[in-house]
Amino acid sequence: MSHPLASQFNRLRYNLYAPFYDRIAVLFAAQRRRSINLLEPLADERLLIVGAGTGLDLDFLMPCHRLTAIDISPGMLAKLQERARELGLGIETRVMDGERLAFADGEFDAVVLHLILAVIPDPIACLKEVERVLKPGGRVVVFDKFLPDTGRAGLLRRSANLLTRLIATDINRRLGDLVAATHLIKTHDEAAGLGGFFRIALLRK
Ligand SMILES: C[S@@+](CC[C@H](N)C(=O)[O-])C[C@H]1O[C@@H](n2cnc3c(N)ncnc32)[C@H](O)[C@@H]1O
Repeated sequence: MSHPLASQFNRLRYNLYAPFYDRIAVLFAAQRRRSINLLEPLADERLLIVGAGTGLDLDFLMPCHRLTAIDISPGMLAKLQERARELGLGIETRVMDGERLAFADGEFDAVVLHLILAVIPDPIACLKEVERVLKPGGRVVVFDKFLPDTGRAGLLRRSANLLTRLIATDINRRLGDLVAATHLIKTHDEAAGLGGFFRIALLRK
């Protein structure tokens, strides 16, 4: 089920964050490089970035020339367009809800999901849409913060989540639960910072 109101709230807050976002998110350059290395995008493959934000992934996608970026926030996408111009990178950008992708089935070879599955109101709807727009055999790379697939979040983590969800992000989602709701197969999963709080995973259709 999609959540239009929650997505409108995301649009509002990320429009406000857009001028400052890079100061924090630039810290994840090493994880972006690693994640995109795992994805191994070929130059002529059609690649989609969902919740693309200000385009901090673009530095690592330079060889790709069939890029599409979507985001709910026009403010974030305006920053992405500036960055793409500076890099001399051609990219199609669309303001779009990641829970309802306006693309046909099987349009893309690969999808980048960086710091979106913990933010989007309904991550299962998003992942199912990603699965739909991927070609058979297509790949998805995920970089985000997740709760371990086994065990329960402690009281501190549950309390902290009340605040982090309001400001930016849910810290208590399980990647295993999200993937299990699709037919995607997880082929790789590794810790990517803060003792496994951040993870990078590769999925295949
Ligand atoms: C934490 S930022 C991550 C941005 C970028 N992927 C990165 O790695 O820096 C989350 C992004 O998701 C976008 N977003 C939130 N809800 C969304 C939705 N329903 N559909 C598409 N994008 C959404 C926000 O506007 C924001 O740009």
